[in-house]
Amino acid sequence: MPIAIWNDNYKTGHAVVDRQHQELFQMVNQLHDSIVAGKGKDVLQPTLEKLARYTIQHFGTEEALMMQTHYPLLAVHRQKHQALAQKAKEIIEGYKSGKNVLTITLSQFLADWLSHHINEDDKALIDYLHRR
Ligand SMILES: [Fe+2]
Repeated sequence: MPIAIWNDNYKTGHAVVDRQHQELFQMVNQLHDSIVAGKGKDVLQPTLEKLARYTIQHFGTEEALMMQTHYPLLAVHRQKHQALAQKAKEIIEGYKSGKNVLTITLSQFLADWLSHHINEDDKALIDYLHRR
């Protein structure tokens, strides 16, 4: 059962950003399914690392757009990206060292974060790009 359910309300109207967001939804669902299925470290660790890598790449795409267009809310938006990236790093390190386990609290958190961030921050960015 997917935990991050895409619908067209998440569309920002920017083709590249929308494609990356859809990919992120899929990757969160893949992580979620693996956690639910009780997969081991051999599956969970690479799945989580792949998601983290893709997320950082996606943040880079958005931040480049913001810089190119002198987006006034760049600092605030980037701060949110950095906070998530930092949290992801801590979760991965904790998991690798055996300090924490991965539960669906994580996939639920990621699905919620994605949903709120797209609706509140990314849509504002793309609206700005369209208005300028
Ligand atoms: Fe963003």
